[in-house]
Amino acid sequence: MDIIECFLNISRSLDFTWNGLLHHHQRTSLIAAKIGKAIGLSDRGLLELFQAAAIHDLGLGSWKERSVLLSYEIENPWEHCWRGHSLVNGINSLNHLAKIINSHHDHWSGNNPSGLNKNSIPLASRIIHLADRVDILTYKYVNTLENTDAILNDIRRMKGKIFDPELVSILEEISQKDSFWFDLVSPLGKESLHQVLSFPHEHFGIDYLLDIARLFAQVVDTKSPFTFYHSKGVASIAKFLGQQLGMSSEVCIQLEIAGLLHDLGKMSVPMELIEKPGKLSEQEFRIMKQHAYYTYWLLRPVTQLFPLAEWASFHHERLNGQGYPFGKTGDELDMEARLIAVSDVFVALKEKRPYRSSMEWDQIARVMNDMVSQEHLEGTAVAIVLDNRKKLDNILEDLEHLLAG
Ligand SMILES: [Fe+2]
Ligand SMILES: [Fe+2]
Ligand SMILES: [Fe+2]
Repeated sequence: MDIIECFLNISRSLDFTWNGLLHHHQRTSLIAAKIGKAIGLSDRGLLELFQAAAIHDLGLGSWKERSVLLSYEIENPWEHCWRGHSLVNGINSLNHLAKIINSHHDHWSGNNPSGLNKNSIPLASRIIHLADRVDILTYKYVNTLENTDAILNDIRRMKGKIFDPELVSILEEISQKDSFWFDLVSPLGKESLHQVLSFPHEHFGIDYLLDIARLFAQVVDTKSPFTFYHSKGVASIAKFLGQQLGMSSEVCIQLEIAGLLHDLGKMSVPMELIEKPGKLSEQEFRIMKQHAYYTYWLLRPVTQLFPLAEWASFHHERLNGQGYPFGKTGDELDMEARLIAVSDVFVALKEKRPYRSSMEWDQIARVMNDMVSQEHLEGTAVAIVLDNRKKLDNILEDLEHLLAG
C-alpha cells in the first residue's frame, strides 16, 4: 500500500463542510511539502511533514469549528490542536506526529500554550502553520494569480510575529512561479504532490493500515457520545464472527479494519444530525444515508489488497436488494460485507440512543431474527451472535472500560 495515497484519501474525510469538499488537507500538504523540499529536508523528514500536514486538523469537532478556522486571523485555535494531539498520541505507529500537530498554530514569537517559541517549535509545525494559512487565504479569491500580492502581503504582515521569518522568505521565493498557485487550485494538484514526494518510500503493511483505521475510528466515534465505541465495537464483533467462521487471521484483521472505517463517511454529515437527541426526520435520514456512499469513495483508492471499500461501505445494503446506497443484492455481497452489516446492527441495538436505552438480549434476538426472515441480514452470522451472548457482552464491556479508562 502506498502511504501517500492512503493518507491523502482517508484524510479527505476531514474536509467536508456546508460548502462542499474543501481539499484543505491536500492543499496544505502540497504547500508544506514544497517548502520542506526548498529548505532541503531529508526524504524521511519530508514524509513525516506530509503525514502531519495531511491530517493536521483531525481534532476539529464540528463544521462550525472548521468555519472559524477559515478566517485568516483566529483568536483561539488551540482546542483542535490539543484534541488532535491526544488522538494521534494514542496510536503507536503515528504518535511521532502528535507534537507536530499540537503546535501547528503556535506563534513564532511565543506566548503559546505549548510554552514553545521560535526554533523550539517543531520545524514541521512551523511549516504546516504557514502552509495552512496560505491555503486559507487562497479561498478568498476566484482568480488566485491576480491576487498573489495580496495573499503574500497578508503573510508578510505576520512575518516574525506569527510565522518563522526564514520560512516566509522561502515561500516568497517558491511562489514566484505561476505553477505554485495553479497547483493549489487545480483539480489535478494531487499529481504535483506526488511529484514533490516522488522519492522512494517504503510501502507499508496491514498493521500500519490497522493503526490508521484505529485513528479515524476514534475521530468518527467521538462525534457523538452515543456512539463513543461504535466503530471499534463493530470491528471487534466482525473480527469475532470471522474467527468463528474459520476465516484466516489475515482476513480477520482486514475485517477489523473494514469495521473500524465503516462509518468514515459520517464525516460528510453535519454534526447536528449525528448528535441529534431524537429520531431523525425523513428528510434528515435522507442526508444521513449519504454516509455509506462516502465511505465507499473515500476508501476505494486506499488499498487493492482486499475489498476494503466494499466490505466497509455495504453495511446498509440488504440481501433482498432493499438497502442503500447502491441497492446491492445478495449475490453481490461478500460474506465479509455481510458480517460487517450484522455487526453494525448488533452494536447499534446494544448502544443507548437518545430516544431509547440499550436493548436486552431477548429483544435483540427478536429484531435480528426478524431481519433474517426478511432477507436483510445473513442468517449464519446472526445465529453466531445469538449463540455467543456472554462472549459478545464481554467484548463490548471490555471496550467500554478501555475507553472509559
Ligand atoms: Fe488547524
Ligand atoms: Fe488547517
Ligand atoms: Fe452506518
